[in-house]
Amino acid sequence: TRVAIVFGGRSPEHGISCVSAGSVLGALDPDEYDVVPVGITRQGQWVLTSGDPGELAIRARRLPEVTAGAGAEVVLRADPTAGGLLVLDPAEGPRALADVDVVFPVLHGAYGEDGTIQGMLEMADIPYVGANVFASAAAMDKEFTKKLCAAEGIPVGPYAVLRNGMTLSEADKQRLGLPVFVKPSRAGSSFGITRVDDWARLDDAVAVAREIDTKVLVEAAVVGREIECGVLEGEAGGAPEASVLAEVRMVGDREWYDFEAKYLFADEVCEYDVPAALPDRVTHQVQEYATRAFTALDCSGLARVDFFVTPDLDVYLNEINTMPGFTPTSMFPRMWAASGLEYPKLVNRLIRTALH
Ligand code: DAL
Ligand code: MG
Repeated sequence: TRVAIVFGGRSPEHGISCVSAGSVLGALDPDEYDVVPVGITRQGQWVLTSGDPGELAIRARRLPEVTAGAGAEVVLRADPTAGGLLVLDPAEGPRALADVDVVFPVLHGAYGEDGTIQGMLEMADIPYVGANVFASAAAMDKEFTKKLCAAEGIPVGPYAVLRNGMTLSEADKQRLGLPVFVKPSRAGSSFGITRVDDWARLDDAVAVAREIDTKVLVEAAVVGREIECGVLEGEAGGAPEASVLAEVRMVGDREWYDFEAKYLFADEVCEYDVPAALPDRVTHQVQEYATRAFTALDCSGLARVDFFVTPDLDVYLNEINTMPGFTPTSMFPRMWAASGLEYPKLVNRLIRTALH
């Protein structure tokens, strides 16, 4: 099977995507897969890379980066005769990306996890791993994730949406209370998110989020534990399956699970319980909400659904990631390993699902 692993990309999560791709590349059996490692630079240029997982690791707390190195340029051109997409490789000459059997877009955030590359692959008729155009776009946008999940009866916390230039009303301040989390509606890995404990800090936080997305969400902080659940599309048309749950616990005085905690200092400031220590009833409730959310948004392939569980054991959905992190500290592969699906088997299953 010829599989293109596409990573990097134009979103702020560029480096995380590279690290995720490094793990996926390391898990692919070379006897089974002919791998085409395609990097996308931050500027959007597509390049063939070595695909060496060693070059795609975090070193000295620095994230890897796709650069347009000499001799590696690949130009992506629309070519209707080549299934829509053509890769022009200076060394090997023109080659159709459509020659690959399947694309695994290991891309996080805008232009990767939001339906855009999925639309391009649909138009070119190339199978790909993960959610379709609609599900990707809906899950990328925290406003629509909440609306669709709430319509299915899944509890979500109180929030307000600030569209272009809007400010939070006094009524919404009363309703939400402090603290709040201010988030770009479409982003990931905690980019652009600020916790606000004093309304005087709100405008700055909104400005930070607006650098990433003109639409900003202000969410009431749900006091509770961070619980995550992996979901895989069912095999042979069966129902989606939920993994065991994970709990992320912050140790020390870091206030919340931000970017640095997730990736740069994870070994120092986070502890993970897989499976999470929760009563069976709550575990099943979270798993049921996770698969219901997967179905509600019309997801396919995979998703990681994130929740808060309050001290009273009430469950709130936080968000859905249709291309969750695959980094060494990411929860999705760990939860599936703890559920009996080791990393290489997980990757095989994702590719198999995309091909049928
Ligand atoms: N957006 C990051 C990659 C995640 O959800 O794991
Ligand atoms: Mg996310």
